[in-house]
Amino acid sequence: MLRPILIHPDPRLKKVCDPVTEFTADLRRLADDMLETMYDAPGIGLAAPQIAVTKRMIVMDCIKEGTPEPMVLINPVISWSSEDVSTYEEGCLSIPEQYAEVNRPAEVRVTWLDVDGKAHEQQFSGLWATCVQHEIDHLNGKLFIDYLGPLKRQMITRKMEKLKRERARHP
Ligand code: NI
Repeated sequence: MLRPILIHPDPRLKKVCDPVTEFTADLRRLADDMLETMYDAPGIGLAAPQIAVTKRMIVMDCIKEGTPEPMVLINPVISWSSEDVSTYEEGCLSIPEQYAEVNRPAEVRVTWLDVDGKAHEQQFSGLWATCVQHEIDHLNGKLFIDYLGPLKRQMITRKMEKLKRERARHP
């Protein structure tokens, strides 16, 4: 089921999300909905708070061509970050059509649980590393525009306020 994606500014995008403690059929459905919503958008990552679910859960797939590689990460934690930094032009499904360069560690090691509650650990590099860090930020109420200077951030926020007013008028 497709879920509506919240658009910045929204207080629900600023919350620190709660850990997932129960691995139920509902959680599996939520993961499926998040992947479906992400692919439909289309995007390469989506965090639960973006669909107004305040849980520590993200989905991603950074494969642009070829066989999809859907990933569901529950309670993800960055256990190691490289000193090397890489710069990507980031965007966000909650901040449509706005892009800016963000510096982040080039590689990270992440631990997480899958929908069955089984533990995983993996090192990510390239676009996957940027994506997983961007999505984990969402779980702590942080958006990529928080890395920008105040003027750029305000400009983007005003554009989003205008977009939301237009969408409210012409749903
Ligand atoms: Ni995002």
